[in-house]
Amino acid sequence: MKNENQKNTLVSLFRKTKIISIRLYRHKGKISVSKKENLNTAGLNIKNESYGFELKDGTLGPSVIDISSLYGETGQFTYDPGFTSTASCESKITYIDGEKGILLYRGYPIDELAEESNFVETAYLLLSGELPTKEEYQEFELAITHHTMVHEQLIKFYNGFRSDAHPMAIMCGVVGALSAFYHDSTDVNDPHQRMIAGRRLIAKMPTIAAMAFKFSLGQPFVYPNNELDYTANFLNMCFAVPAAKNQISPTIARALDKIFILHADHEQNASTSTVRLASSSGANPFAAIAAGIACLWGPAHGGANEAALNMLMEIGSVDKIPEFIKKAKDKNDPFRLMGFGHRVYKNYDPRAKVMQATCHEVLKELGIVDDPLLQVALELEKIALNDDYFVEKKLYPNIDFYSGITLKAMGFPTTMFTALFALARTVGWVAQWNEMIEDPSQRIGRPRQLYTGYDRRKYSKLDVR
Ligand code: ACO
Repeated sequence: MKNENQKNTLVSLFRKTKIISIRLYRHKGKISVSKKENLNTAGLNIKNESYGFELKDGTLGPSVIDISSLYGETGQFTYDPGFTSTASCESKITYIDGEKGILLYRGYPIDELAEESNFVETAYLLLSGELPTKEEYQEFELAITHHTMVHEQLIKFYNGFRSDAHPMAIMCGVVGALSAFYHDSTDVNDPHQRMIAGRRLIAKMPTIAAMAFKFSLGQPFVYPNNELDYTANFLNMCFAVPAAKNQISPTIARALDKIFILHADHEQNASTSTVRLASSSGANPFAAIAAGIACLWGPAHGGANEAALNMLMEIGSVDKIPEFIKKAKDKNDPFRLMGFGHRVYKNYDPRAKVMQATCHEVLKELGIVDDPLLQVALELEKIALNDDYFVEKKLYPNIDFYSGITLKAMGFPTTMFTALFALARTVGWVAQWNEMIEDPSQRIGRPRQLYTGYDRRKYSKLDVR
């Protein structure tokens, strides 16, 4: 009955004295909203009762209706599966304009950072809000490179895994276990401990990921080398062996550093929201980041580049592309062009542009000419960008389209792709976690629900069921 009443609800939005209308109506189970005008105060009319809610403006992007008092005032919840219309927090870190294909870290465009900055400097920017001075950069880089070693006891954890364990399974376990080793940085209410924990996580993540890789190969772990920069050190821990001298190509190290920059943050995506939700209970940072790693592992999130690469391998040659395009457009076929489309970007993913150029640089440096996967990718992109189906639905290549080819060429197996993503995203997770703890308006995350189960009923004994 209650649901019936709510089916065709007329809601009014008003600012100052001006009234504007929003009509909510049910269409195939979805609620659509048609908005005629958008002003500063939002009014809600439920069954002839009017309520006012503040419209808050950000510096960029859509304003939000502050409904935090909605339940208290009206006794109603909002319903928004997948949080497609819900801002869960206020943030100053990252801004995305999906329609225009813009991504800014603390106001700086992603392509400028990828071209001009490096991952350590970008990490400082995301964490502190400003680009560092020379002295600040030196202090930060030193701190990061001097916390790269992990406790020797932690190595025993690795030996407890099966040799074919997925690196992400290992990372979930090992990162979560860090809280058992670093008791001096688990008090989330102490800003100094938070700073130490954040730096530890960023510094140790390459070591942890490289150890997971080495373990899967059955090769000895390589200890960090403080003389190498952040990304070169990671490459060395992944590819050096005791039997031979390891040469790190500066071009490859720079390309991977760019990939880390591209993946460092992406506002309130699933894994970042997971980190925020997990830590909203006061959980320690290592546990919260382990939760983020678990979420990132999913194929709809961090695992998509692996799926894009598998698809390119399945297509195999340029002449097979039309067949796969046809499958992608067929409503009765579940096949989708992996690496195409994005929940937020309805334009070319700005990261994909940098990724495409980086892919070319890496293949050139490695002497991979006429790579069949790259040929398929370039042709597929060309065809899809000119096809009505993809144009109308605004389906453009996303960052995952070229990252798989690039990482594979560098020598990483597909199982490591998401681990590399986790390494880079740790910076964003730590920045967002800190911001959340410092925000006095944040409380423990506790979503509500629309209950559609049984009404109260009486327990019946086993022998009479
Ligand atoms: N190939 C073919 N058709 C597609 C594709 C695709 N890759 N993506 C979306 N569509 C179609 C859908 O079938 C749907 O068509 P319809 O309106 O006729 O039903 C329409 O475009 C809208 O698709 P939705 O799934 O509703 O769009 P949404 O924004 O929810 O999904 C998503 C975005 C999940 C990324 C989707 O585009 C997709 O599955 N892409 C392939 C997987 C992928 O590359 N994921 C990586 C995302 S980037 C990241 O997470 C780092």
